[in-house]
Amino acid sequence: MEHTLVLVKPDGVKKKLCGEILARYERKGLTISALKLMQVPCELAAEHYAEHKEKPFFQELIDFITSGPVLAMVLSGENAVAAVRQLNGATDPLKANPGSIRGDYGLAINENVVHASDAVDTAKREVALWFPEF
Ligand code: PPS
Repeated sequence: MEHTLVLVKPDGVKKKLCGEILARYERKGLTISALKLMQVPCELAAEHYAEHKEKPFFQELIDFITSGPVLAMVLSGENAVAAVRQLNGATDPLKANPGSIRGDYGLAINENVVHASDAVDTAKREVALWFPEF
């Protein structure tokens, strides 16, 4: 059993895609183990994206994820990390396959609807960061 952190980012919440996105994860067989709608504090955003601190788009990442409410969740199941990444599609929505969440609902890499942990180790760190009580 694996756990992974998923965020429906501000663009996904604004476009009213939360229900549709949750349904896709549930239909895959994943369990929603924790869920909260929240405004992301700047400190949490900076910690979450710490590995990208040196990237030219770091401030853009922080500004975007703090620009409106985010639906944060822990999804659980066998191979949950890989399963969610498959459903989400490639980071750049223009490279993501149609039928994936980003392929269907995203238009640009800086507004790509969802975030998910990229590996089991990352998932442990991100779940602890966003859901310390989990
Ligand atoms: S990279 O370039 O390898 O670090 O990219 P990646 O690890 O796939 O992406 C990390 C997050 O950065 C976002 N991203 C960008 N935002 C704005 N502009 C540009 N050019 C850009 N490139 C990548 C991308 O959406 C990832 O966000 P998360 O929330 O982790 O999915």
